[in-house]
Amino acid sequence: MSVEAGAVTQNRQWLLASRPETAISEANFVQATAELAEPKHGQVAVRVTHIAYEPAMRGWVREVPGQGSNVKLNGVMRSQGAGEVIASRHPDFQPGDRVTGFFGWQQYAVVDVAGELLPVKKLPTGVTEEMALSVLGITGLTAYFGMLDVGRPRAGDTVVVSGAAGATGSIAGQIARISGCRVIGIAGGADKCRWLTGDAGFDAAVDYKTDDVSAQLKRLCPTGINVFYDNVGGAILEAALDNIALGSRIVICGGISGYNVADGEWPGPRNYMRIVNNPSTMSGFLLGQFSARFGEAWTRLADWTRDGRIRFAADVQEGFDNVPATLMRLFNGQNLGKQLCRIG
Ligand SMILES: NC(=O)c1ccc[n+]([C@@H]2O[C@H](COP(=O)([O-])OP(=O)(O)OC[C@H]3O[C@@H](n4cnc5c(N)ncnc54)[C@H](OP(=O)(O)O)[C@@H]3O)[C@@H](O)[C@H]2O)c1
Repeated sequence: MSVEAGAVTQNRQWLLASRPETAISEANFVQATAELAEPKHGQVAVRVTHIAYEPAMRGWVREVPGQGSNVKLNGVMRSQGAGEVIASRHPDFQPGDRVTGFFGWQQYAVVDVAGELLPVKKLPTGVTEEMALSVLGITGLTAYFGMLDVGRPRAGDTVVVSGAAGATGSIAGQIARISGCRVIGIAGGADKCRWLTGDAGFDAAVDYKTDDVSAQLKRLCPTGINVFYDNVGGAILEAALDNIALGSRIVICGGISGYNVADGEWPGPRNYMRIVNNPSTMSGFLLGQFSARFGEAWTRLADWTRDGRIRFAADVQEGFDNVPATLMRLFNGQNLGKQLCRIG
């Protein structure tokens, strides 16, 4: 068991400098340098090579009264990432192991293997960092449980996914296809829509930036939507509710259109009575509810990716100085698939 972090003593980090009141920006973060600690019993030191991004980061930097779990002011910004173990005081990890875990926005991380949100996990042979952080990471797991357990798609159903060209939406839609459904994606821009109906194998795509979404869904779903998997909320959720079938399942995975608004100004839906008049269920969920079954999801997602039934995309930016700027790509729709930044 190695305990030496070697010659590394200095660690560049991005800290949360201020909390955004509306839209998050690069100005909310500041760079700093800190001493790198030696790992204690049960910990590993990791050289971080990839940082993964989630829209939930907008929530992690909010002030939540009485809740200590959000990122503290002047604390290292939280994130999942991948890297290489450089020192270990845990018997299952050796220098050179490639791992994923919650390492934060920093060049090196000293973390408990048991993990804050997810344990530190070795990358199996043949699994790249991009794959581990996308289809086998938080977003792939979210798509798996959100679609299969909450959406409960049945063969022949019509399934609509919003935020469909993103990390979660693209996998959720492909899982519905594997379940024998007809799948329509909603995304911003012609390039993303082409990618959905090409690489990702969706049956149709709606460009919410140029199309009338409600009218297009009416045309594409003449017998109504059986499962709506929503990552966006607001006007897009309303357009889907206009078109639900009797007994539909509306899965609220997220609502990114509302994340950058001021507290208390969350949008719609104005037409939620549609779920009364077409008796349907609208259910939210959090990935953490399913933690006991992550192993099952990892096995099936890896199999589907290996046999080509799931195609994933990763949008990989470069450089430690670009770490905060890369987060903004999620909110202005520049990313296709999983947003990552390589800093190694
Ligand atoms: N429930 C859970 O446990 C859980 C876990 C993980 C993620 N989530 C949620 O899943 C959703 C997707 O997350 P992700 O990590 O996969 O991100 P992502 O979809 O890869 O990236 C975000 C995408 O959202 C779209 N977007 C941004 N602002 C928008 C707006 N105002 N209106 C419409 N679309 C907008 C953009 O695509 P366009 O170019 O198409 O606009 C952007 O590419 C988020 O809502 C997230 O909070 C939930």
